[in-house]
Amino acid sequence: MPLASPVRVLSLFLCLTLFAQSDTYHEQYRPAYHFSPKNNWTNDPNGLVYFNGIYHLFFQYNPMGDLWGHMSWGHATSKDLVHWQQEPVALQEENGVMIFTGSAVVDARNTSGFCSGKAGCLVAVYTGHTPKTIDKPALQTQNLAYSNDDGRTWTKYARNPVLDLHMSDFRDPKVFWSNAARQWIMVVSLPDDHKAQFYGSPDLKSWSQLGSFGPEGAAEGQWECPDLIELPLDRKGKETRWVLKIGLNPGGIQGGSGEQYFIGRFDGKRFINDNKPSLTLWTDYGKDCYCALTFNNMPPGQPHTMMGWMDNWQYASQLPTHPWRGQMTVPRAVSLKKFPEGIRLVQQPIPGLERLRERHFTMKNLREASGQSLEILSAIKIGGATEVGWKVLAEDGTFTAIGYDVRAGQLLVDRTHSGDVSFSEKFPARMYAPFKPGSRLRLHILIDRSSVEVFAGDGQVAMTNLVFPRKDASKVEFYASGGKPGPVTADIWTLKSIW
Ligand code: FRU
Repeated sequence: MPLASPVRVLSLFLCLTLFAQSDTYHEQYRPAYHFSPKNNWTNDPNGLVYFNGIYHLFFQYNPMGDLWGHMSWGHATSKDLVHWQQEPVALQEENGVMIFTGSAVVDARNTSGFCSGKAGCLVAVYTGHTPKTIDKPALQTQNLAYSNDDGRTWTKYARNPVLDLHMSDFRDPKVFWSNAARQWIMVVSLPDDHKAQFYGSPDLKSWSQLGSFGPEGAAEGQWECPDLIELPLDRKGKETRWVLKIGLNPGGIQGGSGEQYFIGRFDGKRFINDNKPSLTLWTDYGKDCYCALTFNNMPPGQPHTMMGWMDNWQYASQLPTHPWRGQMTVPRAVSLKKFPEGIRLVQQPIPGLERLRERHFTMKNLREASGQSLEILSAIKIGGATEVGWKVLAEDGTFTAIGYDVRAGQLLVDRTHSGDVSFSEKFPARMYAPFKPGSRLRLHILIDRSSVEVFAGDGQVAMTNLVFPRKDASKVEFYASGGKPGPVTADIWTLKSIW
């Protein structure tokens, strides 16, 4: 056999590399427009921040495998919050200390003294987690790292930790600058006490305790991933309220991990709940939205924007995906709106996602509509039906249903027949959310190979769920039962891949 020439070997190598690259992001279940890491495990989004024209998404990441461990901050960047590029790992586990969840701020006035440039620098505030050993309990402390090259490389502060209560569970700091309080504010969780603690600092390095909140609302499991944000009310005018969002695991509305929020006022020290302590408000009624975090330093005119981990701790390590495990929700614009029952959080996919729209279908050519990455905007007059809705990712008796159960007065998502549901007994589920549709049931649905995100009405109900459909399951069908529905409109688009 003649020896392969170096040119041939090189071109074969190039072909294989190109093939491997184009293959990545096209695996079965790989989301086309949601962020997922190329390889390995991810959980919570971390350090969401906009700086110098770039959105940064850091994320809990295991650089060594597709199960939780060696927690570090992975990194991805975007110019438009829609197209993401994965960057090298930003913060690595070191000397046995893992890098748990946290946030990132722009220190524009160099209060920390870490910044070398005029525009300030990025400072990350994260939990350092030292696992327990035979003779020592675990330790969680709050720590700093900074970057003077737009988030590419990071230096851990030499005098870490900056906050140490000598506790095993004390984590997930969200930090922001408060103009009113003229200092940095940190909200951080005491998971087992069901408390969010507030701290203040002039320089990010020295912190003093301000107030604490909880337990109120749902106080099961562990409280994790708090966020505190001032949001406009009804988008117009100057009125605002503060939202304190808290993850709990377990104890979520659909079992396992889930998130609640409180609406109230933050006086620079304490959060005061506007509602009764017993009222529980859920950010999402699906099983798969956890540790959502809002971006710091959004550009002027842009809505407050939140992203979550699209998963549930009940089965996160069993998901049938390869070579990655874990993905994020789409970025969601969040605000507050007054309803007869009170002020509620409303969320909608950011408008920028519309740029991914490709082929368009309506009720007239519904039969031609198909795809695994789709957007549906639909308004349904319920009429005499007792259940109406959509079946998506459908094929041969398998489907995910998104509908309205008129008698129960509830929105529903049913993934019991969605494809592979066998990897965990906690996975198959029919989920409900209380919702009053008004004269028409308005649904905004995002489908992306292994997920279905539903926003109902003005976005006051969100339901986020993973699904693992058959490879060929791509049909979209309207369904109604129990009587004749009224008129239905639908705009359906296939959405382009961002990879
Ligand atoms: C929530 C969480 C956080 C913690 C991180 C560790 O999903 O448990 O509280 O910081 O994950 O990966």
